Amino acid sequence: MRSKALAIVVFFAAFILTAGKGYTQTNSKKTFLKFTPGAIWPDNKGVHINAHGGGLLYDKGMYYWFGEHKVAGERGNSAMVGVHCYSSKDLYNWKDEGIALPVSADSTSDIAQGCILERPKVVYNRKSKMYVMWFHLELKGKGYSAARAGVAVSKKPTGPYKFLKSYRPNPNSLPFYPAGTPADEMVDCSRPKNESDQFFCRDLPGGQMARDMTVFVDDDGKAYHVYSSEENNTIQVAELTDDYTGHTGKFSRVYIGHQTEAPAVFKRNGLYYMIGSGCTGWAPNAARWFTSRSMFGPWTFHGNPCKGEGSDKTYGGQSTYILPVSGKKDAFIFMADKWEHKNAIDGRYLWLPIAFKGNDIEINWSDSWDLSVFK
Ligand code: GAL
Repeated sequence: MRSKALAIVVFFAAFILTAGKGYTQTNSKKTFLKFTPGAIWPDNKGVHINAHGGGLLYDKGMYYWFGEHKVAGERGNSAMVGVHCYSSKDLYNWKDEGIALPVSADSTSDIAQGCILERPKVVYNRKSKMYVMWFHLELKGKGYSAARAGVAVSKKPTGPYKFLKSYRPNPNSLPFYPAGTPADEMVDCSRPKNESDQFFCRDLPGGQMARDMTVFVDDDGKAYHVYSSEENNTIQVAELTDDYTGHTGKFSRVYIGHQTEAPAVFKRNGLYYMIGSGCTGWAPNAARWFTSRSMFGPWTFHGNPCKGEGSDKTYGGQSTYILPVSGKKDAFIFMADKWEHKNAIDGRYLWLPIAFKGNDIEINWSDSWDLSVFK
């Protein structure tokens, strides 16, 4: 009884001492109460979260964070381990769930250790009851030339995921054009009008290049793979099959020739939003945002959503995902990576709230914030 009372006193003393620091601490275990963008973000074991280029899945009251597990040094930019998974109920405190998709020890596998496996995104398929992970895959030893989409499935959100295949999407398929698309925007492979058209036509037989990517599931259950294509010149928005493990052949091209990377998509009041970056490798650049009434477009370009100091470089980060916070209206978190390409494991996470002015969005820097910013 006395030791219980003592424990309570110690707990409250620790609480008071650490109040205002954004976490409570008992027996060296911290409970985080806010986001501190760009800071070291320890998991339940006290280790900086290792889930870069990540995406979130909300499933049965739990958030799951999937991302690239990076190792130290520049070699950490290649996949030495696989896709790491964490779980959380409150978005501040993350439990290490281990490696959801390991790279393969078999050097002939598409996902052989040392390949480049980036930006994994997991979605749940209600029909097959499977969790489906898509990622950008570059074959080992081939730099960034393969430009493939890879897919893996699991019965449980935390894995293990079974690798199915990797390929370039939609060979021999021409783009879908929303009604009203001007004829001069349609590709004609007998007379490509610009460099992006040339790459598109070059890749028509073998499938389109697929690098930086996200997956978006719409309210009607249809899923879309959104990726940087045509030598990173153009975003393509491609419909996935009913089980989410393949492409249907229907896709559209967005913002042709403007080199958009790092696409992230969300939907609010029936309007689709896309935020992406420019194309400067690991170095940060200005973000850009678009809206559309349909996933297939036409998408309208709106410029940079970030405001204030550092906004011309996305505060040092690059978009990776936008999370709708469960149970809150108009609550979306912009998630970006602050890459440390010389010591990949030290990459940081910039999570910032999205503010709405009518249908317009704004992102502002904040050293620390919590979910109470959302009404
Ligand atoms: C970035 C891209 C990253 C990674 C990097 C390699 O532009 O968004 O995911 O591919 O280039 O240089």
